[in-house]
Amino acid sequence: MSENIYTRVEFFSGENVPLEMHKARMVQRINLIPAEDRLEVLTRTGNNTFLLPNRDVFLDMLTDSGVNAMSEAQYAAMLMADDSYAGSETFYRLENVIKKFFGTEYYLPAHQGRACENILAGVFVDSKTPNVITNYHFTTTKAHIMLRGGTVHEALSDAATAVQSDLPFKGDYDMAKFDDFVKKLGRETVAFVRIEAGTNLIGGQPVSLASMREVSAYCRKNGLLLVFDASLLADNLYFIKVREKECHDRPLADIVKEIASLMDVIYFSGRKLGCARGGGICTSNREAYLKMRDLVPLYEGFLTYGGMSVREMEAMAVGITETLDIHTISQTPLFVEALGLELQSKGVPVVTPFGGLGCHVDAMSFVPQVPQEQYPAAALCSAIYLVSGCRGMERGTLSESRNPDGSEHLSNMELVRLAVPKRVFTHSQIKFAADRIGWLHKHREMIGGLTFEEEPATLRFFLGRLKPIGDWQRKLVDLYKKEMPSGL
Ligand code: F0G
Repeated sequence: MSENIYTRVEFFSGENVPLEMHKARMVQRINLIPAEDRLEVLTRTGNNTFLLPNRDVFLDMLTDSGVNAMSEAQYAAMLMADDSYAGSETFYRLENVIKKFFGTEYYLPAHQGRACENILAGVFVDSKTPNVITNYHFTTTKAHIMLRGGTVHEALSDAATAVQSDLPFKGDYDMAKFDDFVKKLGRETVAFVRIEAGTNLIGGQPVSLASMREVSAYCRKNGLLLVFDASLLADNLYFIKVREKECHDRPLADIVKEIASLMDVIYFSGRKLGCARGGGICTSNREAYLKMRDLVPLYEGFLTYGGMSVREMEAMAVGITETLDIHTISQTPLFVEALGLELQSKGVPVVTPFGGLGCHVDAMSFVPQVPQEQYPAAALCSAIYLVSGCRGMERGTLSESRNPDGSEHLSNMELVRLAVPKRVFTHSQIKFAADRIGWLHKHREMIGGLTFEEEPATLRFFLGRLKPIGDWQRKLVDLYKKEMPSGL
């Protein structure tokens, strides 16, 4: 039987239910604390969902990073790991799996995705080559490039940041914009060109294989180094398979190999790709490999562990292989779609088409009364926690850095991301989240803005502390308690 006969199991009734192709054999108890307690916790933790203790969170939809459910094969692999500083058998196993998966010659280990970005920026970005062109930036990628005095230029099409759209591949390059950047900046000033799979900050939106081919051909013609961020490759691969006609019948392994052959350097967060905790950089370009290799022992650890534990390396090797199972990689997209449809049925504005990683609520139209300087997405994110115990993540102006003159860099999208880690939530939990956000939408005019109490200079969204402008949170919780007698 061919490996990929169907990509989803339909219901005879026509109901749109994301069927789980796994069973849960180990579970973790989670807490749903009352709204009154949620207000107390949120106030104490500076209205920043990154600072909430897990014990006070019901559905942790902050991220899929390092929190995807692992398979029994991954846990089994963790039992047999070769712990040694140098020459670990575990490393060689992982290296073989990764080299086979991508078809590249070299693999450099790193402890997570941003560690790879540190190495890439360290090697390629300097005063002579300060420019990086990308479909869209990611927070940590941009921070590392800027730290080296570099600048990020985004070649996404303008249509890709429209919240509602039917563009199947919003992460695609706009080739005219790309060409303009290269001509304007000068080819010789470009450190590298970057493609991010599953474009995170615009809503986990995929890049098509067709676009990757075009960008690669352009880079090869113009002598530009092409770097691929494969952190969100699993979701992206699913969308290539189901949305790109020529790939419907192609084996996933084949598609991955072609993607890899188009790139010069590939890096990934193993907290996402491979459902474990780790990362790495792959290439067949010996010169690039040697330059990057020198930085691994400096920042990560010796070349045969790169800052990872051997158990995580074993789990990652199995997890990467499992990326080639359509029913493994479909789980997040199908659950994102289920959450998106449920929210839409309640009138909640969400990013379409539904992407990978999570469902993204459009704060700009949910709370139009909150100006961008008062962080509408962060305010909505705090309100969602108050009424549901669900922890989302702000992806808007708060996630940007200020301009050099201290003014706000207003984001072109204000999103609350409700991440759906693989195989973690049940369908009824998804319905619960939508139910509470639906309630909030009915009372959306009550939501006000936030202002900083403590603002870190870099990546301020991680550790910054904010407070509500006025007493809207108190009033919201009072109404919630009145309408929801259990207070839960
Ligand atoms: N690239 C992309 C596209 C990412 O989504 C992430 C992380 C990284 C690089 C950095 O990897 O966390 O292992 O250092 N994204 C996480 C998220 C943090 O929640 O979306 P890392």
